[in-house]
This record gives sequence, structure tokens and C-alpha cells, in this order.
Amino acid sequence: MSTQAARVATLLTRGEPGSQVVVAGWVRTRRDSKQGFSFIELNDGSCMANLQIVVDGNVPGFTEIKSDLTTGSSVHVAGELKESPGAKQRVELHAASLELLGTADADEYPLQKKRHSFEFLREIAHLRPRTNTFGAIARVRNCVCRAIHEFFQSRGFLNVQTPIITTSDCEGAGEMFTVTTLLHESIAARGETKVPGPGTAASPPSTLNFQNDFFGKRASLTVSGQLEAEIFATSLGPVYTFGPTFRAENSNTARHLAEFWMIEPEVPFCDLDGDMQLAEAFIKSIVQASLDECREDMEFFNERIDNTVLGTLQNILDHEFKRISYSEAVDIVTSTDRTWEYPVKWGDNLQAEHERFLTEEHFGQPIIVFDYPRTIKPFYMYCNDDGRTVRAMDVLVPRVGEIIGGSQREHRLETLDLRLRECGLDPADYWWYRDLRRYGSVPHSGFGLGLERMLLLLTGMQNIRDVIPFPRTPKHADF
Ligand code: 4AD
Ligand code: MG
Repeated sequence: MSTQAARVATLLTRGEPGSQVVVAGWVRTRRDSKQGFSFIELNDGSCMANLQIVVDGNVPGFTEIKSDLTTGSSVHVAGELKESPGAKQRVELHAASLELLGTADADEYPLQKKRHSFEFLREIAHLRPRTNTFGAIARVRNCVCRAIHEFFQSRGFLNVQTPIITTSDCEGAGEMFTVTTLLHESIAARGETKVPGPGTAASPPSTLNFQNDFFGKRASLTVSGQLEAEIFATSLGPVYTFGPTFRAENSNTARHLAEFWMIEPEVPFCDLDGDMQLAEAFIKSIVQASLDECREDMEFFNERIDNTVLGTLQNILDHEFKRISYSEAVDIVTSTDRTWEYPVKWGDNLQAEHERFLTEEHFGQPIIVFDYPRTIKPFYMYCNDDGRTVRAMDVLVPRVGEIIGGSQREHRLETLDLRLRECGLDPADYWWYRDLRRYGSVPHSGFGLGLERMLLLLTGMQNIRDVIPFPRTPKHADF
């Protein structure tokens, strides 16, 4: 087993017939012929397709292990690559030796050949990467991450790492998970010696004094790296963050996670118009990279998950994103004769049903809604002269709704202070953020893309829990 195994993806595309190769992976199926040959479909995760292994019954030791080569078992195979007589694949591997690495009891292995529901697969998150769908999602996710770095790196953006533990609430929505060691201390103070470990359900102490806490004040998991990204953008030029973010919002929908990955560019000397241009170019570059580099997986999504995926993506590439103001959006929504679950009037948040109506039905393409009422947006957004709107923008795409949220930032100290107070926040708590407006303040803008929302768009998957390896949602943090 000392030889490094070749990847199936490489062999299927570039493997030379006649060459000696070694592969390793998991058996998808085995079929035995009457002539004494066995045909094994081997998958190693490098691509959707399996490599066909042809094993002559005379291969040493094969008869003894043959019945253990069931779905899910792992093998190591050496042999000669030959042109495949079948039309399905270019090459197949004729085994000279085959070693069984691990068995998978056919009565117990949960991933038998039939189709499994995504709900069921969520319960076996440790095995679902072995299925076609989750393998494809993992590969596309990887491609998207690389494309994101490439997009920004090729434009001279600096990648900055912002903190995961923070003492400020960027979105001001109070949806933060507290990070504390007080639980342990207070339990110890109650005279109990056994501190409940992670994953157990314990009664919390009745009072918490954060002054005594690890950080001396209440700290939380970040909801966004934006405020810290602004620090670097107003020192070093365009930057971007790419990290996990956390929201304790109790919205049990197919589009919300409690832990998700966000990409947040922040650009100095840039207004909302430049921000919208960047967002559009960014989305298009990710779509293009997935289509170019993950063709086989993307076709699988179109065939097996949602047959509108490729059409929707091509439509995105072919059109300029339509830009409409929030006021126009409200006018369109209120002038249809449809009945809404949440009727909307100027000043209200657009709900998912309105957003999807606008992008899917009314415009039939991605749109950018800008200039939202200041009363429904966070303190940091630039106030327009009309006194009632801020320079915010949301990118809405078919099937997903909001995929990007961003804004031009308020860089005028006086207005910022006014907004902080309006939002019930104490300017003193934002002293460092205010300093950026006191010393060499510049107009700047940025946005956040939720990686998993992007993956919903690319894959056609319905539920956001299925495009992240280990989803965290209310009452669910297993694995
Ligand atoms: O619109 P949001 O809340 O904006 C911000 O956090 C800004 N600080 C971004 C910025 O300007 N730098 O979130 C941005 C995006 C949303 O458009 C959505 O795609 C995603 O993050 N998102 C979520 N994705 C999954 N689960 C959740 N609970 C999400 N909340 C937001
Ligand atoms: Mg938003």
C-alpha cells in the first residue's frame, strides 16, 4: 500500500491505456459474471463517475474476499488501465491485485443503492459525503471558495481575518450567541463539582455578572466581520473577509443557519454604485467558475435536483442585474392583485415572499434593491439626503431571494452619532469605529455574501442544511 493511489477523476480523463496504476476508494456496486469475472464500480470522491474495475476470479486471494466486497467497503487495487469496450467510459482498470481494507456489513450499512431522502441523510451527516449529491456539493463548494479568493486576489484585495469572538453587535439585531465561562464558575459556586460538558443540557445559573466573565464584559460569536474589515479597508485599501458567522435567530427556515460562512469585501473610496457593480461581477464570476470547472457536477444537479439550475445560471450570466429602489419594489409588490401572507407598506421589511416574487416572477432575473428605509436598517449605513432612506442594497436572485446584503457606510461622524442613538446604541461603546470617522474619514462601501445561499443558487438544493457539511439550526448541533 505504499504506492500513492491515483485519483479516479485523473484516470478517467487522462489515464493512458496500458499504464500500471494503483487506485483506492469505496465500492459502490459489485456484479459477478458467470464467466468468473467481477465488475466493481469504485468511487474515490474525486468526481461523480466511478471507475470500473474488472477482476478475474484468478487474481490471488480474490475468491476469499469477494463476498465482502459489498457496497461501502474500501479497497486498494493495482493493475493495468485498458481501453473500455463500453461506451460509458474511456478506460477501465484490470486488477492484478486487490486488497480489502475495510468491510461494510450489507445488513447494516445505511447507504444502500436506493435513493435516500435528504432528511434521512441529515441524520447520518458522517456518511452522506459518500453519496453522489453530497460529493458533488462538496466539490462545488470547494470550487466556489477558490473562485472567491481568486476574484478578490486578482483585483488586489487583501484577505483579512476578523475575530470570531467579539464584544460588538454589528447588525444591532441582538441575535448573538454569548461566549462565557461563567456557567462553569457559577456551577462550581453552587457546590456542584461536576461541570456539564459540551453537548449536555444543564440549567444555567440564574444570574450572570459579565464583569466577572473571561473577557470582563459580555462577549459573543460574531454575526459579521464588517466593522473590523472597515478598519483595514480604511488603512490598506480594498479587503475581504471569509469566515464563519453566527446568528442566534430562531428562524427555522430552509434559508437560515445558525452558523454560516460569509464573504465580506470592504472598499474605500467607493460609493453604493461601485458596491453594486462589484457585487454583480462577483456573483457572475462564481457562477462562471462553477460552470467551467465543475461541469459534470453541475449537470448532475440539473438532471437530478432541479432542471432549472443551468438555465437560471445562464440567465444570470447573460443579463445585467436590474436595479430598483426599495420604493419602486414596494410599489410593484402592492400593485399586484396577489394576496400576501405579510402585506407590505412603505417602511416595512420585504419578506421572502415579496423578494422571490420580484426576482422570480416580475423580473425573472437577479435584481438589486437599493435605498431602504433607515428605520429598518443598521446604524452603519450612509443616510441619504431625503432623511428617510439609507444607501443599502440587497441582491435578490431566483429561488433563493436575498443572497447579498450591503451598503455604503456612514463616514460622517455627526450623522453616525445620530444614527447610533437612533438605534438605541451608546456612541461611547463604538469609540474605535467613531475614530475611523475622526481621523482621515473616507467614503467606503461593502457587502456580505452568504456562501450557503450561493450554493443553493448553484446546486438547486432546496434546503440550506444540505449545502453545508455540518448544519447548525435551532435544536440541531449534532456531529
Ligand atoms: O444582510 P446581512 O445580515 O449583512 C451583513 O451582515 C453585513 N454586515 C454585510 C456587509 O455589509 N459586510 O448578511 C449578509 C448575507 C445575506 O445576504 C445572506 O446571504 C447571508 O449573509 N445570511 C445568512 N445565510 C444563512 N443563514 C443566515 N441566518 C443568514 N443571515 C444572513
Ligand atoms: Mg440582509
